[in-house]
Amino acid sequence: MTEPSAPFEAWVRPELRTLKPYASARAISGDFAPPIRLNANENPWASDEDQPLNRYPDPQPQALVEALSAHWSTTPEHVLITRGSDEGIDLLMRLLIRPGVDRVMTLPPCFGMYALYAQIQGAEVVEVGLTQGEHAWAVDWPAVEAAKPCRAYFLCSPNNPTGHTLPPIEVLAFAKRVENSGVVVVDEAYGEFSDQPSLVSALAHQPNLVVLKTLSKGFGLAGARVGGVIAHPDLIGWLKRIIAPYPLPSPCVDAALKSLTPDALAQQNTQLDRLRANKALLCEALKDSPHIQSLWPGQANFVLVKVEDAADFMAHCAANGIELRNQSHQPQLDQCIRITVGTESETQALLDCLDAYSPTHRQKGTTHGA
Ligand SMILES: Cc1ncc(COP(=O)(O)O)c(C=O)c1O
Repeated sequence: MTEPSAPFEAWVRPELRTLKPYASARAISGDFAPPIRLNANENPWASDEDQPLNRYPDPQPQALVEALSAHWSTTPEHVLITRGSDEGIDLLMRLLIRPGVDRVMTLPPCFGMYALYAQIQGAEVVEVGLTQGEHAWAVDWPAVEAAKPCRAYFLCSPNNPTGHTLPPIEVLAFAKRVENSGVVVVDEAYGEFSDQPSLVSALAHQPNLVVLKTLSKGFGLAGARVGGVIAHPDLIGWLKRIIAPYPLPSPCVDAALKSLTPDALAQQNTQLDRLRANKALLCEALKDSPHIQSLWPGQANFVLVKVEDAADFMAHCAANGIELRNQSHQPQLDQCIRITVGTESETQALLDCLDAYSPTHRQKGTTHGA
């Protein structure tokens, strides 16, 4: 049975439909790897013979595409490897958004790069605020639907910075309702920290669904800049036409491949367990602290807290060598701070810092469920 598709061609910017993609030397060679390569104006000598980097890398290294698709429980035709998931967001905007015409939906408070890349591409950004329930954040689906049509709807689960997850059934029902207007992009950057199943398995039945992944978080490879767009093969084909010719530096590909070996994955699991334990410790202390008015533990490698005076608390932490992220600029997050979960000693340092804090006003608030 062939996989159902979506009207991707009609959604692609008209000027890109007929654009002839650049054919890089390495893309033309494909699997052909002759001993003498005089087709890419490379230097025949490497500056470091122990780690030769004089040759251009494979645009989409087959071994990594296969290893990542297996890890993400999909097939290679559904995967495009990108320079972090940031590049995936940017490519989707550049492919699908006609400047001054198309609209992109975001659900703030959320990751800022969706709106930024949308604006760089000249989209109108439609913001539908999340609702802050008694225990957790939720999407106001009727409001989201009322704001359609958009060419792209950006969701994030677990969401940065609230940490809440989206029930897959709700996302799928929504994707179905907007399947004639655009793509529903689910950013699973923090998926490794959550018990929520990935939406990748639903792609085959819901072709306007796109999932973003990254090795920056759970894999501990933020410095390597490796992410992925998982989508219908037709959409992946369109994205391949506009991605940079050599997006993936060879050392980063090697690091990504190494992180997918059984030993490395076992080590990742151990680290995830440690992180969960540190997070539990951190949450316990935050819950008991008189300085924390609200705590949203969420399901990612960070927590969100509300304090009396975010700038004051941040300054106190900075004076003790600890950097946190103020979220007060985001809607509904006045005086809120996002705290990344660190090592055992980093967590202890933060807790010591919290103990030593003395603001002028004290007020105790509530703890919210994940
Ligand atoms: C929700 C979310 N998506 C994507 C990214 C970007 O990740 P990458 O490092 O893969 O570009 C981040 C980075 O913090 C993020 O929080």
